[in-house]
Parts: sequence; structure tokens; C-alpha cells
Amino acid sequence: MTLKTPTIADELAKLVSPATIFRRNEPLAKHTTLRVGGPADVYVEPATEAELAAILNFCGERGVKFFILGRGSNLIVRDGGFRGVAICLCQANFSKIEIDGERLRCGAGAKLKNVAVEAKRHGLSGVEFLEGIPGSVGGALRMNAGAMGGATFDVVESVRVMNSVGDVCEFAPHQIAVEYRCCTTLKNHIALGVVFKCTPAPGAEIEKRMKAFSEKRWCSQPAAPSAGCMFKNPAAIPAGRLIDELGLKGERVGGAVVSAEHGNFIVNDGQATAHDVLELIAILQTKARNERGIELHTEVEIIGEDD
Ligand code: EPU
Repeated sequence: MTLKTPTIADELAKLVSPATIFRRNEPLAKHTTLRVGGPADVYVEPATEAELAAILNFCGERGVKFFILGRGSNLIVRDGGFRGVAICLCQANFSKIEIDGERLRCGAGAKLKNVAVEAKRHGLSGVEFLEGIPGSVGGALRMNAGAMGGATFDVVESVRVMNSVGDVCEFAPHQIAVEYRCCTTLKNHIALGVVFKCTPAPGAEIEKRMKAFSEKRWCSQPAAPSAGCMFKNPAAIPAGRLIDELGLKGERVGGAVVSAEHGNFIVNDGQATAHDVLELIAILQTKARNERGIELHTEVEIIGEDD
């Protein structure tokens, strides 16, 4: 069943309050940092946890697909878009950042940059590496996002989650399955918020670390629209170095180009389609396999339908 059936989208529209943002046929390209992909049948920003639970129950009962959209920085939506509901937890109720002694309580919709800045403002160290990741807390948890030697779950004390029927509970790290760039528990639970455990440190020290991270990022990664690193790093060699060694920087399909700055980034020159990006990914994977015997696995999530 798809939400193209007008009555289903209409019923969902009636279920939510005016405080929940509800749109039909929403272009998802503008919700992703790579800026490609087709529309979602329905796009919602629930105002409260109760409304989120109601939407999930509706989807479950009516057999409607849904996915949780963070800041779209690790996401490729195919050109045909998504037949179902895109749910974005970016309203104020989901985006709080509260300081509690050495802990930071953050909603899933909070921006990672704001988390790093708030922590710095309160003399709390441990989350500096989040500074330049263009994502949300929920996305960082789902992907166990990392940078500069740090990974999200290194500093997690607990995660509040909702299951597919709207029940809420809190998980300690030992109850959560986490690996490099993936939290499998969050494949079937939705992160609502997190408690990060930090360490007090002088503000100047934190500032210095954040500045160094930012400089490293600016001189080694492209500023053009991208989805961040496209592939997980294989054990044998970082994906960026491998692609560089294979001479594939500058390789292009349509408007999708392997970045000249960093081999593990595919950038959109402004004209790319999801099809271009996916074709370029396949070329890189084939060359890595044929020439070096290395499998490149995408780090980004790929959803939706072809045109
Ligand atoms: N390298 C090259 N050529 C390139 C790119 C990299 O030779 O074109 C070499 C670098 O010189 C370095 C090594 O490859 O010796 C690793 O490169 P880098 O330090 O840039 O780190 P990375 O492993 O490519 C990881 C994360 C990034 C994160 C950076 C910075 C992954 C897949 N990527 O990149 O995360 O920002 O470290 O800490 O783990 C992301 O996940 O989306 C992401 C951007």
C-alpha cells in the first residue's frame, strides 16, 4: 500500500495536530546534504512524542513504510523518491540540549555542532569531535558517527528510544549493539535522545582541540555538497587513500564527481542525480575489487525507488 492512495495520506493528515508539520510530495533532495533524490509521499515533523507514537502506530496498522530523516548528511534518496512517510524529529521538543553536571542531555533532533558548542561553553570535554559533523544527534547515534579518532558511542551513557508501536524505554550502552559506523539496535528503534558523559576541562583546551579538528577538516575535505565519506574504511586501507591510489579522483558520472580533495567523497557539481551517484559508487567498487581485491561497502544509507 502506498500513500499515493489519497485517503491514507488524508487520514494521516487528520490524525496529527496543527503543531505537527505535515506536507505531501515533499522533495527530499533539499533535506539531504548531497542534494539529490525524489520526493517522499508524506513528510512530517511531529510536535511531540505522543504524535510520533501515533504516526508510527498508523504506519504499522496500515502497512505504510516510514523512515527517520536526520539532517540528511549520510543519506542518498533514489530519484523516484520514497513511497511512504519521512519523519523528521527537528521540532523544539526533540532538539533540546540540557546540561546536568558533567552530563549533556540531548534530543535526537539537536544539531551536533550545537552539542559541541554547548559542551565547550560549560567546560565539558569529550564531544569536541562532533563539531564539524553536519548531522543530528539521532543520526550520529544510528550511524555511530565518528571523526578525529572519536566515535559517538565512546561518550554515550544512555539512549532513550521508541519502538515501532510507540513504547519508550532507556537503554544503557551494554544493551545496545554498536559497531564501526552502525548501531544495529537503532535499525528497529528510534532514538529520541541521549545522555553524553563528558569530563570537565579548561575552556581554552577544548577550544584549541575544536579549532584543530576544524582546520584538519577544512584542509582535507571538500566544501561542495556531499554525503560525507561514501564508504566505510576497509581494514586494509582507508577508502579515501585506496581511491586516490587507484587514480580515481576526478572520475565523473553526470554531475557526480569523486572529490579532488578527498577520495572518499563524491560531490554534486549542482547537476547530479541519485542515479549518477549510484553509478559512480558502482564504478569505484568494481575498480577496488578488480584491481586490489578490496570490497568497498557504503557508509551512507540508500533508500527509495528508481525513477
Ligand atoms: N588519504 C589519501 N588520499 C585521499 C584521502 C585520504 O591518501 O584522497 C589518506 C590520508 O592522508 C590519511 C588516510 O588516507 O592518511 C585517512 O584519511 P583521513 O585522515 O582523511 O580519514 P578518513 O579515514 O578518510 C575518517 C572518517 C571521516 C572523518 C575523518 C577525520 C570514515 C569512513 N571516515 O576519514 O568521517 O571526518 O576520519 O577524522 O571513517 C564520515 O564518516 O562521513 C566522515 C567524513
